[in-house]
Parts: sequence; structure tokens; C-alpha cells
Amino acid sequence: MIDAFRRLYGAADGVRIFRAPGRVNLIGEHTDYNLGFVLPVALDLATFVAAASSRDHCLRVYSEDRRESAAWDVSGIPGLRPQRHWTDYPIGVAQELVRAGFPIAPKNLLIRSTVPEGSGLSSSAALEVSTALALLDGRAIDPLELVRLCQRAERGFVGMPCGIMDQYISVFGQEHAAICIDCRSLKNQAVRLPDGIAFIAVNTMVKHELAGTAYKERTEQCAAAVAIIRQRHPRVESLRDLSPAMFEEAEAWLPPVIARRARHVVSENARVGQFVAACREGDVERMGELFEDSHRSLQHDYEVSCDELDFLVDAAMSLRGVYGARMTGGGFGGCMVTLMRPAAVAPFEGEISRLYHERFGLTPRIYPCRPSSGAAEVKNFESIPAPP
Ligand code: GLA
Repeated sequence: MIDAFRRLYGAADGVRIFRAPGRVNLIGEHTDYNLGFVLPVALDLATFVAAASSRDHCLRVYSEDRRESAAWDVSGIPGLRPQRHWTDYPIGVAQELVRAGFPIAPKNLLIRSTVPEGSGLSSSAALEVSTALALLDGRAIDPLELVRLCQRAERGFVGMPCGIMDQYISVFGQEHAAICIDCRSLKNQAVRLPDGIAFIAVNTMVKHELAGTAYKERTEQCAAAVAIIRQRHPRVESLRDLSPAMFEEAEAWLPPVIARRARHVVSENARVGQFVAACREGDVERMGELFEDSHRSLQHDYEVSCDELDFLVDAAMSLRGVYGARMTGGGFGGCMVTLMRPAAVAPFEGEISRLYHERFGLTPRIYPCRPSSGAAEVKNFESIPAPP
């Protein structure tokens, strides 16, 4: 990567490399912006940013994946407007850094990523966090402030009203563990995964247009549910505050669509706790059941799945050695995550690819989910992947 940097920018003096991982969310989908619980795992798929000072006044970025570069005078960064282009991510982050009191020095950046885009494995957060570290260039920042700053960049500049899960897990991920995040207190707990299981992500290779608009619509429907419930229960500030019993009572007087959206959030939030308990007991069958319940809830109540994801989940559930399967991430495409016996992985990969190809004419990419550590400067250059 340093050679590539030198070829691109003519020199690589003082270059440093920063890494931020993508993630797979095991359970707790669309609960983060309702201030509930989520249980993601940071992946060994990650974005790497090599950075060194430039000799002029510019911030330059080059993406190897897109083979595209862009440059800005650093003094103009605070005034830039979103372009609906991938460079909105680094610029959004740079603006937030400036606002938080971290001026941006002229720099050249080279971006290399193994997080597949549009896959629901959080390539955006990986890009935001790795860029933020590269622009900070060793200046200390509170990790939670880093998370919030990157989330603000995505919400404010990129214009995606996301929750906090993706940026959080990219910063706080741990090897060998899933991280249970309380999205209200922003505290977390590492959850060791039982031995003798494997998590496999299968990419539908589609991302439907609806994804952006439907996400915003869901956040609004959740807010609408809270507004109605508050008329009778003024202490309810988010759907997180609703127990399943309270929801049962509220269900009768919520409009039907709003009621279904709220039912997903309330039941999914409870499932996170149940899943963590099953993990601790090593009850793999139960973990699998909760995966399936979560998917059905996302499919029917929250309506953020799609034909490709539903097909993959049904197909996976029919294969040997599979305990459970569900869509992961925002939905409308992206990945399914499957909980299974390690010995069943090889035949599963062949079968699921064949079935999916037969139905949709697409070959799904398959990724083993290995819990990895959160974002940091790279010290061991051997861990850096080859160019795309
Ligand atoms: C996207 C968002 C997250 C979260 C998930 C759904 O990945 O960025 O904040 O809301 O969707 O669980």
C-alpha cells in the first residue's frame, strides 16, 4: 500500500496507515435509532487509509476501488456542500473534525477497502472512521466522540439519518466477541460467542432503490408511534421504553401500519437480550430460533426485507447444519447472516450459491464473519490486503 501511495503521490515520507472495520449485525435491527439494543460484530473486512502530509494547501483523496481522485483547498473545506458522491463521506468527516476543534492539515490520502459496498456490511462507517483517524493523524480523541462525529457526518452531510450502531462497532469492535450496545447510554458489553458455531454472511448482490427513502420513513413511523403513545404514557421517550406488555395495550389504538412497525422494534429489542442470554448458555438452537423470528419480524412487521433476502433465508433454513438465518443491516438487499455448524459451511456455500443463481441469475458472495478489533493505526503491515 505504501508503494501504491508512492506511485500515486510521488513520495511516501511519513506515511501512516489507519484501519476501520465493517460489521455484521447479529441481532437488534432498526433498534439503534429507537435507543434500544444491538449486537454487532466488527469484521475482518475493513477500510484502510494511507495518509501523509502534502506539500501544498490541498486535501487529496484517491479511492482504489473507484479509481477516482478528488482534491480541495483545505481552507475551503468548511464551506463545501454535499455532491451526492462518495467524496461526501471524507468531506463530511473533515467538516465535523474542523467543527470539533481539529483543523485539517494538507494531506494526501489513499483508500483501500475490502468491505463490499451496498452489502449492508457498513462500508460507509468503515470509510468515515478510517478517514477520521487519518485526518486526526495521531491527535487524541475520545473514542465515543469519534463515533458521534462520524455519525454526525453521515446524518448531516451525507444526508442518511442513520443510528449509531455502525460507527460505534467500527470503533469499539473486539476480536473474539460480539458487542452488545445500549444505544441510549452508549455503554457496551462484550459478548463471547459459543464455541463450535460459525456465522456466514451471504450477499444478495442487490441494493434496491427504496433503501434510502424507506429508512427515513421507518424512523418517522417510529417517531409517530412514540408521539401517540406519549399522550397516555408521557414517560415514554422512545420505543425502547415500551415493554412487550405495554405494547400489547397500545397496539389497539395505534394505526395498523404504525402498530406493526412498533411491534417489530419492541419485539426485536427483547430478542437482543434473549439472544445474549442464549449465547451465554451456549444454547445454539435458541440463538437460531431468535435469528428466524427476527427475520420474520423484519419481513412482515417492519417490511424492510426483499424477495432476494427472503429467498436466501428460506433456502438457508432448508440446508443441513443451519441453526438460523436473517437479513442483516438496513435491508432492501445486502446480506443475510447465517448461524451454522462449522462443518456444514463448505457444502452450504456450494448449495446456497447454486439455489440463488438458479432463482435470480446472480452468484452471491460469501464472507465468513470473523470478529475483529476496532479501528486503529495499522502497525503490522502484513495485515494490509492486496489492491483490488
Ligand atoms: C443501517 C444504519 C444503522 C442501523 C441499521 C439497521 O445500517 O446505518 O444505524 O439503523 O441500518 O439496524
